[in-house]
Amino acid sequence: MESYIQEQFAERIGGNRFGQGTVLYKFEKIKRAKREALAAHPGLALIDMGVGEPDQMADAGIVRRLYDEARKWENRDYADNGIAAFQEAAAAYLEKVYGVSGLDPRTEIIHAIGSKPALAMLPQAFINPGDVTLMTVPGYPVTGTMTRWLGGEVFPLPLREENGFLPDLEAVPEAIRRRAKLLYLNYPNNPTGAAATPEFYARVVAFARANRIVVIQDCAYGALTFDGHPPLSFLSVPGAREVGVEIHSLSKAFNMTGWRLGFLAGHEGVIKAFGAVKDNNDSGQFKAIQLAGAYALGHPELTAQTAAKYSRRHDLLVRTLRDLGFRTQKPKASFYLYVPAPAGVKDGPRFDTAEDFSQWLIREKLISTVPWDDVGRYVRFSVTFLADNAEAERRIMDDLRTRLGGVAFVWA
Ligand SMILES: Cc1ncc(COP(=O)(O)O)c(C=O)c1O
Repeated sequence: MESYIQEQFAERIGGNRFGQGTVLYKFEKIKRAKREALAAHPGLALIDMGVGEPDQMADAGIVRRLYDEARKWENRDYADNGIAAFQEAAAAYLEKVYGVSGLDPRTEIIHAIGSKPALAMLPQAFINPGDVTLMTVPGYPVTGTMTRWLGGEVFPLPLREENGFLPDLEAVPEAIRRRAKLLYLNYPNNPTGAAATPEFYARVVAFARANRIVVIQDCAYGALTFDGHPPLSFLSVPGAREVGVEIHSLSKAFNMTGWRLGFLAGHEGVIKAFGAVKDNNDSGQFKAIQLAGAYALGHPELTAQTAAKYSRRHDLLVRTLRDLGFRTQKPKASFYLYVPAPAGVKDGPRFDTAEDFSQWLIREKLISTVPWDDVGRYVRFSVTFLADNAEAERRIMDDLRTRLGGVAFVWA
């Protein structure tokens, strides 16, 4: 049937070409390669180190709290911009886990239905056509996409190994600084696994103040630190609360990805503007979920247990990959291990890109990773692979070693 709908799509999603592109995006390619490889190797199990979310479900105490709260009449209705109990729990959590004190839960903290929608909404509060968002690259792209949709521009800040995967703010040209309104940071970082330092955050505060830029620090992996590295909040640095906000998520910290809950904390004006935008986008997260979230925030030891598991898995994976010839180092935080991709296999295929290597890993070895070719050639291994206990984790590592053991990688 002839349809006019195709002619009506907005340019931001491709206009009348929407849905007709033949370009396959990275994650779509990975899914397709997984399907094909599983069909081609029916006897072999997939080692999935590509997923960016926890393998475990939320703690039983959190689930029980949801059950109890979901049964109450008073929790049935719109939550709008949030409930005080969750904001108060968030303030107490920031103090206990990050040593950030003195935030007013009513005016300096607000909930969000996960950090992703918050990252999409913040540009709506700041970006006019022609304004610039500074974004670390590679990275989580939502704030940049929304900036462009609003007629703004994105200026990339490349994350390089030699700088500890921290952006070089001094390299931002004067003309860009003048038009920049937002700076998006994400530490601990996806995909590099890098952690920020108080010195770096102090430089960020000075840069933001000097150039009148609003900082958005995405702390989705914040408390998942190990080996004695304490969780670090941007808000713990002097002056940070005057230049921006930090976004926290319960998704990774409490194995609650599907629950959709997070919060913003920091500058009162940013929180207020976010609330105004949010109020026009959603009607708040289910109160029972917020109350279960408040319970979770009161139990930071749950995050510490999860972090210990990821730490153990990182140790195993780093040792295994090093033995196989990869140059890699355990991160201080997050469940990601960012590893330079080989250039090929001796007397075998060449990998011109990390994507070539990642596709080869799936198709030939049934090992799933995520490639990044934005700045250098790296693949991201995620230690969220499915394993019930430490013994199962060791078996997976042995399997990885067996599958790659006979391969002579070429590194240049
Ligand atoms: C860096 C980063 N920010 C934000 C998110 C979104 O998290 P949430 O589940 O809170 O929306 C993710 C999820 O993968 C992420 O990696």
